[in-house]
Amino acid sequence: MMASLFVYEKKRLREDMAQEQVEDLNKLARVCEDTMIVFDEPALLKYARSLVELSAPKLLYAGFIYPVDQSGVSWVWRHNNNRIVYMDPLSADVQAVMGAHEMNRRTLWMDGEKIVELFRPVGKYGYVRLGYSQRVVDQIFRQTIAKSIQRFSVVGLISIAFGLVLANFFSAAMSRPILKLKEAADAIAHGKKGVHVVAVGRDELGQLSGTFNHMSDELAKLDRLKDDFMSHVTHELRSPLTSIIATAELMSEMSKVNNDAKLRRSVDRLIFGSERLNRLVDNILDLTRLEAGKMPFDIRPVDFRTVLTEMADFFEPRAMEKGLTVRAVVPSEFPLVLADAERIRQVLSNLIYNAIKFTNKGGVTLRLHNRNGMATVEVQDTGVGIAASNLKTVFEKFECLKQTSDRVEKPVPGSGLGLNIVLNSIKAQNGKIWVESELDKGSSFIFQLPFAPAEKSAVTASAPSGTVAVAVPPTTPVPAFSAARSQRV
Ligand SMILES: Nc1ncnc2c1ncn2[C@@H]1O[C@H](COP(=O)(O)OP(=O)(O)OP(=O)(O)O)[C@@H](O)[C@H]1O
Ligand SMILES: [Mg+2]
Repeated sequence: MMASLFVYEKKRLREDMAQEQVEDLNKLARVCEDTMIVFDEPALLKYARSLVELSAPKLLYAGFIYPVDQSGVSWVWRHNNNRIVYMDPLSADVQAVMGAHEMNRRTLWMDGEKIVELFRPVGKYGYVRLGYSQRVVDQIFRQTIAKSIQRFSVVGLISIAFGLVLANFFSAAMSRPILKLKEAADAIAHGKKGVHVVAVGRDELGQLSGTFNHMSDELAKLDRLKDDFMSHVTHELRSPLTSIIATAELMSEMSKVNNDAKLRRSVDRLIFGSERLNRLVDNILDLTRLEAGKMPFDIRPVDFRTVLTEMADFFEPRAMEKGLTVRAVVPSEFPLVLADAERIRQVLSNLIYNAIKFTNKGGVTLRLHNRNGMATVEVQDTGVGIAASNLKTVFEKFECLKQTSDRVEKPVPGSGLGLNIVLNSIKAQNGKIWVESELDKGSSFIFQLPFAPAEKSAVTASAPSGTVAVAVPPTTPVPAFSAARSQRV
């Protein structure tokens, strides 16, 4: 584009310069014709002189043949040396001019200078000629072209900048709705339901936004249907399961009384399977309620020292069955924490069960401390650990790591829901949870929750004994929270 503009500019400039020369020649011819009528040679000389002076240095001379006393004397006004030169009318040079019947242009050399000469006849006898220095004309041409290039560059740069601004503006206008759609799609991919984007206009993007919103609504509807179905089915399963477990426990007692070992083994297997099923039902119900935001949370200041100590005590016998220890290491004083005590017990229960389940030797330590102004609870074990590549997915639903269970001496099958319930529960209580682990070294599941405001936690939890409370018998019975109730390690 710029190149063709430049070629056009060059051509136009050449034509303009040639046209200007023709106009100068025609003007001289007119003056010559006028002065011929009145024989006013001085006026013609004066005009020729001023023409040369004004157009210097490109115009070297202006010449004419003027019928002075009918003698046809020819002379030339030369600018170079600022004098009038009379020429021989019979010279070849003058004869060439006098032979012309219309305007002519020729190139000749004069005093070592290349000259472009224009000449034409005037009236019956007269002739006019103008001699331009080719060198100066070329120089002017080059200078003008250089200026044009400069002008084109500035205009070009301004146009490019303007174009970029416009392109940016339009691409932003185009990409904004696409980015919004991407954000909404990401949100749906991360489990958010009923996400909508604002559908602007009737163009393809507007239509796409409308279709996206419809799809999002349909997905949310299907999700609700799935949740309703799950919660209905699990509710329906609960009562028969409870009766099966109760009956099986009765049969187990009877088998003991009747000393029927075969029956007892069968009934124990039945109890074990039913309890697993019961646990799965409980987990699904909890998760459905958590995901639907229907799980009630009674958040109030809680004494975490007591909760941790009770939990360690509660799990001690189960850990001992595997030759493991469970202990709580808590400070002698610790501010109250904003949480739902029941749900925190459920969280700790899931984490401690996992810790015992995935530990072959050593034990589990519960720690409580203040980190960055947040109450921080750590459930640390000396178990089989989790590979770094699995740390990100371990909180996902139905995630059971084969690599982990393969390292456990007596693996217990799980549903892979426990950690997802824990994650959702901690999030719902305004906290966060993460895991730090190394294969064959052990894992630490750490969660943080906010402290209760000062006035609410005026009664700071404290214990007269030292800083470590190990398996203190619970003052209140540990509630029958779902996962803890039936999980076997
Ligand atoms: N303390 C731990 N040490 C090593 N691996 C763990 C630990 N806790 C969890 N995991 C790994 O994370 C997976 C998911 O745990 P999660 O509690 O969600 O499910 P689960 O224990 O298998 O089944 P569920 O708890 O539903 O009965 C486990 O199967 C296990 O592979
Ligand atoms: Mg678990």
